[in-house]
Amino acid sequence: MAVVSFPARAGIRHLLSAADAGALGLERLMVRSEWLRRDRRIRRVAEPLAGLHVALLFEKPSLRTKMSFEVGIAALGGRVTYLGPSEVGIGKRESAADVGRNLSRWVDAIVVRTFAHAGLEELADASTVPVINALTDREHPCQALADLLTLRQHLGSSRGRRLAFVGDGNNVVHSLLLAGALAGLEVRVATPWRYAPDPQIVGRARQIAAGTGGAVAIGTDPAEAVTGADAVYTDVWTSMGAEAEAAERMAAFGPYQVNAELLAHAPDALVMHCLPAHRGQEITDEVLDGPRSVVLDQAENRLYAQQAVLLELLAAG
Ligand code: CP
Ligand code: NVA
Repeated sequence: MAVVSFPARAGIRHLLSAADAGALGLERLMVRSEWLRRDRRIRRVAEPLAGLHVALLFEKPSLRTKMSFEVGIAALGGRVTYLGPSEVGIGKRESAADVGRNLSRWVDAIVVRTFAHAGLEELADASTVPVINALTDREHPCQALADLLTLRQHLGSSRGRRLAFVGDGNNVVHSLLLAGALAGLEVRVATPWRYAPDPQIVGRARQIAAGTGGAVAIGTDPAEAVTGADAVYTDVWTSMGAEAEAAERMAAFGPYQVNAELLAHAPDALVMHCLPAHRGQEITDEVLDGPRSVVLDQAENRLYAQQAVLLELLAAG
């Protein structure tokens, strides 16, 4: 297993982990995102990213992340170049460090979706411009920021609220644990024991939560996790890159479906999913399309959360 570090990178500021949102100023990011959502006219009246160019380097498919970065950057007057899965070959055609060094000579920020988190860290360490994690096998911090924004939108505040995650202890829940801890949320996770979140990330989330009034609970019982929850969150059982394990995962995750029966334990809870959803597997149509679902708000909020991160990293002040 790769060694996980939460290094303080001197000089250039990056968003590699949801924990980095603490150093960037989580509350300021949230307030700025809300302002961007309220006044989409900024697209026409202000172009704070004018003259800036961002590389979107994606080694996995994407709808939401690609579109929300492209639309968000263009709306703020910046430009993007998208490099898709067949183009660069991080660590195959050349090292992650060499990719970062080269891109830094042309662009003002690099947004990366890749497999190994260590590759993202290597690329960031060699870069002289900010690097933003657009999903690795370990984390999905942009998603977690949009999710906190969605909780604030529907619940008024996230502090002290209970968020239950049911399913795979993957990249999405790792970032939710860290961002939720920063925001003072109680995050309760239920996974099959084999697919529990990484203990190092859980430990880091607990450390952060100790200073914010948040809390972290990890277990295997979905009903216990969702009881009394303000929001119930799930994600696919087979993430991008794990397709060879799909059959064994289907068997292991059967009891972890988010359906009407499970939600009976949390009668008022919001329903959340990062999408794409595998309907009929981790979530039923009835629940995903039901009145408590806020999944499209989560998708829309990717735009504002990422714009706020870009403004913080590139146009602070
Ligand atoms: N939620 C999310 O990151 O969606 P995409 O994989 O479509 O970008
Ligand atoms: N856990 C999923 C999230 C997709 C946005 C994956 O990594 O494929």
